[in-house]
Amino acid sequence: MESDIMNIKIERVENSRIQEVDFENIPFGKEFADHMFVADYKDGKWGDFRIIPYGGMAFYPAMLGLHYGQTIFEGMKAYRNTSGEIMMFRPIDNFNRLNRSAERMCMPTIPVDLMMEALRELIKIDEDWVPKNQDAALYIRPFMFATDEFLGVKPSEKYRCVIFTGPVGPYYTTPLKVMVEDHYTRAAKGGTGSAKAGGNYGGALYPTKLAQQKGYHQILWTDSFEHKYIEESGTMNVMFQIGDALVTPPTGDTILQGITRDSVLKLAADIGIEVDERRISVDEIKQAYESGQLKDAFGVGTAATIAPIELIGYQGEDMMLPPVSERQLSKRISEGLKEIRYGKVEDRFGWMVSMN
Ligand code: COI
Repeated sequence: MESDIMNIKIERVENSRIQEVDFENIPFGKEFADHMFVADYKDGKWGDFRIIPYGGMAFYPAMLGLHYGQTIFEGMKAYRNTSGEIMMFRPIDNFNRLNRSAERMCMPTIPVDLMMEALRELIKIDEDWVPKNQDAALYIRPFMFATDEFLGVKPSEKYRCVIFTGPVGPYYTTPLKVMVEDHYTRAAKGGTGSAKAGGNYGGALYPTKLAQQKGYHQILWTDSFEHKYIEESGTMNVMFQIGDALVTPPTGDTILQGITRDSVLKLAADIGIEVDERRISVDEIKQAYESGQLKDAFGVGTAATIAPIELIGYQGEDMMLPPVSERQLSKRISEGLKEIRYGKVEDRFGWMVSMN
């Protein structure tokens, strides 16, 4: 479906809030740029495209999305490269994934060209919000939710799609202590685990709270059937260095198809690291730890970036990984990704999209 971007109405803020932001010290997810893009779906099509000041929205209590979980989202980032140009990292992959999530949740897809144009306009208007310091980025949160005012359990006929943005630093600021979860489940086969659906995150809060009460930051999820195989961790995919190989579980309907995950695997293969996408049991992790072959473990995600795992707790015992400063593999990958994102090396994968 082609979109007609000329129909975006623009209402600018009277006074920008940008002066209130300390760009040298940006937490994740607390600062929001001046404007947002909004589109509404009704009578089988998207319309009423507008960029308006970031702010509250009025809803009726019976709005479907608030009751039965028809809400999906994406997370992506824009960077200012060393020449000052604003570059997005693989935005089309994110919008394609938004549409895959939409299909799984019985929601309408939205044309990728429309989303790209909307994002371009939005970033142009709020370009001063893209941080100039490296290690920071403009986080972009596209999301969609059901807006019918109706209490029957059925797919909504009306939806809203919003893109808002905000400068962010890394989601995790210290190496992570993660706990292998062998009771609760994030996703089961045939469920919604591979969709970026709000409910997947809501359902994780309680087990995560229990793990945090034991002193961990996040959960290392295992399969719902036997709690034997590693799936993903908290808000990110997870990878291990066992011996010289980079090992990660394959995605399927219980694991999110992470775009950072895919990028890390491609980059690792490109720099000559052996990459192994296969099921990994908790027992294998334990054995690798005991034999000194578990050399690195880290989470990967848009918000998380490359998040080192300091220790893995399993049934009351902690497996302590080598000090982060000694880990070569995740360091090389993290630096390799940064060099591409900030335009310090040629983008040999074609991942970066200029927003200027
Ligand atoms: C992201 O990495 O962008 C995510 O969507 C994780 C989010 C739950 C913070």
